[in-house]
Amino acid sequence: MRIELTEEQRMLRDEVRRFADEVVRPRATEIDRSGEFPRDYYDQAGAMGLAGVAVPEEYGGAGMDAISYCLVIEEISRVCATSGVILSVNNSLVCDPILKFGSEEQKMEFLKPLAAGEKLGCFALTEPGAGSDAAALRSTARRDGDGYVIDGNKVFITNGTDADVALVFATVDPALKHRGITAFLVPTDTPGFSHGGHEYKLGVNASGTTELAFEGMRVPAAWRLGEEGEGFKVAMSTLDGGRIGIAAQAVGIAQGAMEEALQYAKDREQFGRPLTAFQAIQHYLADMSMELDAARLLTWKAAWAKTHRKRYSLEAAQAKLYSAEMAQRVTTKALQIHGGYGYTKEYNVERYFRDARITEIYEGTSEIHKMVIADWILKAS
Ligand code: CAA
Repeated sequence: MRIELTEEQRMLRDEVRRFADEVVRPRATEIDRSGEFPRDYYDQAGAMGLAGVAVPEEYGGAGMDAISYCLVIEEISRVCATSGVILSVNNSLVCDPILKFGSEEQKMEFLKPLAAGEKLGCFALTEPGAGSDAAALRSTARRDGDGYVIDGNKVFITNGTDADVALVFATVDPALKHRGITAFLVPTDTPGFSHGGHEYKLGVNASGTTELAFEGMRVPAAWRLGEEGEGFKVAMSTLDGGRIGIAAQAVGIAQGAMEEALQYAKDREQFGRPLTAFQAIQHYLADMSMELDAARLLTWKAAWAKTHRKRYSLEAAQAKLYSAEMAQRVTTKALQIHGGYGYTKEYNVERYFRDARITEIYEGTSEIHKMVIADWILKAS
């Protein structure tokens, strides 16, 4: 495994960093406060290939690798975490499973416009009674002629207020437990599909999180992704990839907070010296940079494993768990370095601190990742 970026990856990172600094950063505070979906620069990101980074060009994407995908999510999240997760959900929770499990017709109909950024996707797994225990979902898909009728409710669906396509999980037979779960690609203008309003959240405010309701929603069998009963594996293997994206998001948030703290520490004087002259602050900065590098390397290792292995659940769980916890520590120290100013909305660091929190919760809590990691260690012993 190489731990140096290739020339192509470096060029991509620099191009995305420029886009993030020039286009995304100036809107970050405003969309955090308004919760407005940033449609204008989402379209621009799509035109740059950022909505389907690892999707082959023939299906509308940029045709790059999993590490390139991490670089994109890190660079965008470095300036705006909510923009990072909007892209991450579309790339890894919607485009990726269509690429992996979809028919040629589904790739042309659904994947192409999603990967090109012309449409936006959401991943509809979580339900009021099925969060960490995803297999307990209760939405049903009843066979009806040459299609299905779906009924049920979803909660906490990221991008749910703005998506054009939802990847919906429902069971064809609750008695079959996880083996009844089946995945469907559903355009959100399908009769019987509706969404609620924005959840009022702590952070990542512009990636509209909402409830979905399906009432007698008729879908043709051609929209089923994978086989009947294969949906839980579609969901779990998709989340392995998604968790690498969230690890990259956490690294980006921490990197952004670190940069803000470093600049503040250089500018701010106390006791006649800049804060950087104090050993306490130097130790904070040293710990922050070391932990950031460790998280970034774990994330790249997981991306490497995604490219080279059939299963990479262990690497994805380790990267997501460590990076999310690291982001809490780094943003807390970054805020501390800012002192009282860090607690005000005058400085960006409070946004980084709030946005970091969700990385320990969505796409599997830290506690779930410890379970996954322990299972792999015990199975291998
Ligand atoms: N890849 C492929 N198959 C997998 C798999 C994976 N990663 N993980 C499990 N499976 C398979 C197992 O091999 C098993 O297969 P068989 O039927 O052949 O035996 C089957 O799935 C059941 O596996 P488990 O018994 O391990 O399943 P479980 O019910 O105990 O659940 C869990 C395991 C890890 C706890 C899982 O439920 C989980 O990941 N929970 C967290 C849910 C989650 O991450 N939700 C995120 C919602 S989306 C989101 O957050 C998006 C956003 O907002 C940004």
